[in-house]
Amino acid sequence: MTDDIRWEVVEESTLSLTDHEAIAALLGQAFPDWSHWYVGGRDYAGMQPERRVIGWGADGTVLAHLGIRRMFITVGGQDVLVGDTGIVAVAPKLQGTGVGRELLVRTSAVLEGLRVPYGFLGAGEDRVPFYAHMGWHEVADAVGTFSAFTADGVGVTETEQGGWMVLPVAAQLEDWPTGPIMLNGQQV
Ligand SMILES: CC(C)(COP(=O)(O)OP(=O)(O)OC[C@H]1O[C@@H](n2cnc3c(N)ncnc32)[C@H](O)[C@@H]1OP(=O)(O)O)[C@@H](O)C(=O)NCCC(=O)NCCS
Repeated sequence: MTDDIRWEVVEESTLSLTDHEAIAALLGQAFPDWSHWYVGGRDYAGMQPERRVIGWGADGTVLAHLGIRRMFITVGGQDVLVGDTGIVAVAPKLQGTGVGRELLVRTSAVLEGLRVPYGFLGAGEDRVPFYAHMGWHEVADAVGTFSAFTADGVGVTETEQGGWMVLPVAAQLEDWPTGPIMLNGQQV
């Protein structure tokens, strides 16, 4: 099934409006509770990514997608450079067929290319097992504070316990600082 997908890693500024609309269409399907959000070409949740991993179908639809942006977050008072990762989605008809695996494997290579110490994401409790299966590690007892997504642009601060995951890239998992995680902004 994954053989039918054309994979591409793109820099944000190279995307056309048509590309953004195709990505938004996938995100609306993969996140039905947020489909009111991903209308037209609005294809990001909080912060726009700098790189996207995109799996294109033969008909020009997007079948798999993920975004990354390098950013500094504060962990236990220390600045940590991460490849913040989000808007991870596989078309509903293909979920459970290995496309998410391929997406995550390709993403590891992209994070290595970006030379970040860590990949980072907020999984939400129900997606922790999937990412853990794909080599990411949930930070034990982590409390993360971030600016929530809002449709009107106001960055309301929220705190969540659990579901914060890291992928060691150029650094070691043991060197991830202990203490609260402050994103000081939105997530991808
Ligand atoms: C989450 C999502 C991206 C996963 O993609 P997918 O194509 O369904 O995943 P795959 O079928 O490739 O699964 C990859 C591997 O993870 C495993 N896996 C999937 N879900 C799992 C779970 N809940 N617990 C443990 N392992 C899981 C699979 O068994 C598979 O393992 P294997 O390759 O060793 O056999 C996809 O289901 C999706 O888009 N969901 C809706 C949007 C969403 O929730 N995005 C994430 C937001 S944080």
